[in-house]
Amino acid sequence: MRPDADCRLCGLCEGRTNIVLPDGDPGARVVIVGEGPGENEDILGRPFVGRSGKILEDAMASAGISRSDVLITNTVKCRPPGNRDPTAEEMAACRPFLESELSGRALVIGLGRSAVRDLTGYEGKLSDIANRLDTITVMGEEIDFLPTYHPAACIYNKSARSALSEAMEIAGRYL
Ligand code: URA
Repeated sequence: MRPDADCRLCGLCEGRTNIVLPDGDPGARVVIVGEGPGENEDILGRPFVGRSGKILEDAMASAGISRSDVLITNTVKCRPPGNRDPTAEEMAACRPFLESELSGRALVIGLGRSAVRDLTGYEGKLSDIANRLDTITVMGEEIDFLPTYHPAACIYNKSARSALSEAMEIAGRYL
């Protein structure tokens, strides 16, 4: 299930250049969920192609994974202005698209606090749950869930960066 090309389900349509649809293997066992497209993603219409994308790809490469082994998506498909966190209303509007992307996967990885909150309702500190396997229920189906750090949080934080690499190693075991 995909948004219409002229989707206007929430206010993010006002500022977007492109709707950013999932990238990678549509049949992948693992799906990686970020929070929302940034400036580069909005321009190119592809998730994780900027600085965060390079960090994510490096973490995947260290675990022997490439973009084409997984599906990469975001909780919202249009760029929040100024890269702010998507609101609960914006995430709710995009939810049916996200759920259809998660359904049938073996593992969902949530990158960062905002995506983890959207996927689980968890409001606490990410550091308390990062890299601890859990499950989420999507369309009545239980799926393994791994919360971890957003690549942007890894820029000046070495321990977050190694946690992200470890999360990708866990992902590799599901492929
Ligand atoms: N950050 C995200 O959460 N998603 C992207 O696609 C790019 C940066």
